[in-house]
Amino acid sequence: MDRQALLDRLAAHEAASRAGGGPERVARHRERGHWTAHERIEALLDAGSFIELDAFVTHQCHDFGMENQRIAGDGVVTGYGRVNGRLVYVYAQDLTVFGGSLSAAHARKICKIMDLALRNGAPIVGLNDSGGARIQEGVGSLAGYADIFLRNTLASGVVPQISAILGPCAGGAVYSPAITDFIAMVEGSSYMFVTGPEVLRTVTHEVVTQEALGGATTHATKSGVAQFKVADEPEMVALLRELLAYLPQNNQETAPTRPTSDPADRRCDGLIDVVPTNPNKPYDIAHVIRELVDDGRFLAVAPDHAPNIVIGFAHMGGRSIGVIANQPAALAGCLDIDSSVKGARFVRVCDAFNIPLLVLVDVPGFLPGTAQEYGGIIRHGAKLLYAFAEATVPKVTVITRKAYGGAYDVMNSKHIRADLNLAWPTAEIAVMGPEGAVSIVFRRELAEAADPVAKRAELIDAYRTHFAHPYRAAELGFVDAVIRPEETRRHLVSAFDALEGKRDRNPPRKHGNIPL
Ligand code: HXC
Repeated sequence: MDRQALLDRLAAHEAASRAGGGPERVARHRERGHWTAHERIEALLDAGSFIELDAFVTHQCHDFGMENQRIAGDGVVTGYGRVNGRLVYVYAQDLTVFGGSLSAAHARKICKIMDLALRNGAPIVGLNDSGGARIQEGVGSLAGYADIFLRNTLASGVVPQISAILGPCAGGAVYSPAITDFIAMVEGSSYMFVTGPEVLRTVTHEVVTQEALGGATTHATKSGVAQFKVADEPEMVALLRELLAYLPQNNQETAPTRPTSDPADRRCDGLIDVVPTNPNKPYDIAHVIRELVDDGRFLAVAPDHAPNIVIGFAHMGGRSIGVIANQPAALAGCLDIDSSVKGARFVRVCDAFNIPLLVLVDVPGFLPGTAQEYGGIIRHGAKLLYAFAEATVPKVTVITRKAYGGAYDVMNSKHIRADLNLAWPTAEIAVMGPEGAVSIVFRRELAEAADPVAKRAELIDAYRTHFAHPYRAAELGFVDAVIRPEETRRHLVSAFDALEGKRDRNPPRKHGNIPL
């Protein structure tokens, strides 16, 4: 064969692989508003940086006439490239090839890039769009899934793993994304469930749409399975690129810095009176976060699930930080099951990837009630406590208002190895709020009072004056400094500077036993 014929042959192979399931299926895919697998990867990565691997892999199935249907690539595009100049391994399932279903060969391709990512210390981004197990391959396909799950688990906490869900993701297939650090879904066109609506209808007689059962809104609000919900594929790509910018390449590195012209000592005058004088009045902690961080830029994680805790990424003096903050504007900032789990997982992501923590505290306590107790708030609240206590990254706390009871201990207190604990003059640090404390401690006085209402008001006032302030904690050294709100940014930037060289470790062990 002459040289030109050889090149033509290569080009034909490349074209066949690039064509996916063929023009009709691709056209149908586009009509539904989707990019192809190659287009998705090319949009995600820096222009021209994608190197594809295994483009000519085909399945080896000989059942159900599959031997006559082989498509180069076998329904998944894999390889590596750059995002903002940094190496990323990526796979994109192709719904136009056997419904994006996972064969043994398809799984091997994904496993190959996962192994490379782990060996080379770079993030893995999965663009999921698949009808699940390749039915014709039976247990071979299930084995392929398990091979991926194992790699997800071994890579956990070593390299960042991000799952974008761009179409169906059902059955056991959901467990690969579930083990990864972040899940992002597209509104209206992606769904995740273990058991689909058809099966539900026959087994439990429940009638529910795909969207209601496992759409982006369901998982970003109710279940908390997805941390991000985006409107469309371009927004997904922008989110993935932004998210990667806050993360290091692996657990041996720190996240890249983001240069800023925002002065480290910028006064935050907007914070002077942000805390209302009435302790029962809410305010928006997200506003406080944006005032404090570089350029007001904050990437909220899971903003619509358990909104009583706000978590997300920002930069402080150019450094990537993770923020965890009670939100007085939702459930008065109480900790409940969902917010504890949400906070705990985020603390562990940050700790695994050397991202310092900023914790803003305004918490009246744990949410009371049978629903919470029966649901296991003891176990779930303990997760947050455990996560903060085991974290060895730089940990800085600012108490803006309430820090009551067990929640004071949990929210990155000095006692569980926080490095620097600051309080605003509006801080109230005590065993419980004035109303509850007065009812218990002064029960007899209240019962005997001529005017119980006036007596209660008087006692609450006295309790507040005596206990509801930061100075007792400051006397004991549990709060390192009481600072003016408008000077908080200066304190925080210099704190994270001073903590740059922090080295701390936990006792040697196989692994801790977080109360799952
Ligand atoms: C093999 C599949 C397939 C599958 C779809 N196809 N799913 N082939 N295995 N799982 C094929 C179809 O036969 C069809 O082939 C082509 O893909 C496109 O499918 P359509 O239904 O025509 O397309 P569309 O309307 O776009 O719907 C796509 C889909 C739907 C949403 C993915 O096909 C679907 O719901 N598939 C079944 C999903 C499912 O139940 N999977 C098993 C889940 S259990 P032709 O040749 O006609 O184009 C599971 C267990 C995993 O995954 C456990 C892991 C531990």
